[in-house]
Amino acid sequence: MVTTWAAKGWTEEHGIGSATLRRLVAAWPRRAAVANRPEVFQEPAAYDPGIPDYPLDIVPFAEHPRFLAASPEQRQRVLTGLWIGYNERVIATEHLVAEPAFDLVMRGVFPGSDDPVVRQGVQQAIVDESFHTYMHMLAISRTRELRRVTSRPEQPPLVTYRRLRETLATMPERWERDVAVLVWGAVAETCINALLALLARDTAIQPLHSLITTLHLRDETAHGSVVIEVVRELHARMNAEQRRTLARCLPLALDSFAEQDLSTLRLELVTAGVAGADEIVADLRTAATGRRLVRDFSGAQRLVEELGLADEVDFDFPERPDWSPGAAAR
Ligand SMILES: [Fe+2]
Ligand SMILES: [Fe+2]
Repeated sequence: MVTTWAAKGWTEEHGIGSATLRRLVAAWPRRAAVANRPEVFQEPAAYDPGIPDYPLDIVPFAEHPRFLAASPEQRQRVLTGLWIGYNERVIATEHLVAEPAFDLVMRGVFPGSDDPVVRQGVQQAIVDESFHTYMHMLAISRTRELRRVTSRPEQPPLVTYRRLRETLATMPERWERDVAVLVWGAVAETCINALLALLARDTAIQPLHSLITTLHLRDETAHGSVVIEVVRELHARMNAEQRRTLARCLPLALDSFAEQDLSTLRLELVTAGVAGADEIVADLRTAATGRRLVRDFSGAQRLVEELGLADEVDFDFPERPDWSPGAAAR
């Protein structure tokens, strides 16, 4: 028997995909920034080794006397390591946090996730993420080749993912673990643009690094809007227990994205042979600014507001900066 969308209730009037979501889905063939820019996958043009790989002004220990006492070559190696680590963590965030949430939606785990517009929007994002991972993977191997980085220190598991695992370990029921994975993915997709913007707006680093993060940022700004629409549709169909779990997970996920894993900074300092790495990290630990990478949470704030949970979610949202991509997406 042939079942039409109309027979199942997916008419234009009654379909659950919002007008905004339908518009975002329809625009994807033109909008997809990375998928439509094959030049980022080709051999790069000239490379000036004098240009840094990573912006010094977002390095929390840039002014620390022990870092300033290191040789210029060691400092350059630290910046190169931070750039490679940044790419590694972007890939890990997509792979371990964003994609599992998309996967749950595509498997129809939540009521409403079998809607064709929801599925289309999420599948488009999955396609984009594959391109992103490939692009960041190339960025790592190109940088390693050009800077002759023959080995990398073993990285600790992504802090955001560690926090997700810790939360999942407290949840005996499958349905609540599913909600937690969805929330972490939604927060990743609405927060990662701020991480990308840190490099995308920088003109002092390698131009290819700015280009990569700019293109990725464009896709993620759209993903943030898609995810807000999708989660709003799913949330509206959740039962009271699922909604309570979602509201409980939001601040936990937000905290995990705000956290900067200082051990990753220490690793780069040690690998570059900078003397006093432990002292630098100990000083960061006690400094109020050292624990957070400059972050803009406006995308996630919009998500919380759209879900009508602003009063329930206990998280101190910082002022939205002027350059905020979340502001541009509104
Ligand atoms: Fe991405
Ligand atoms: Fe994304």
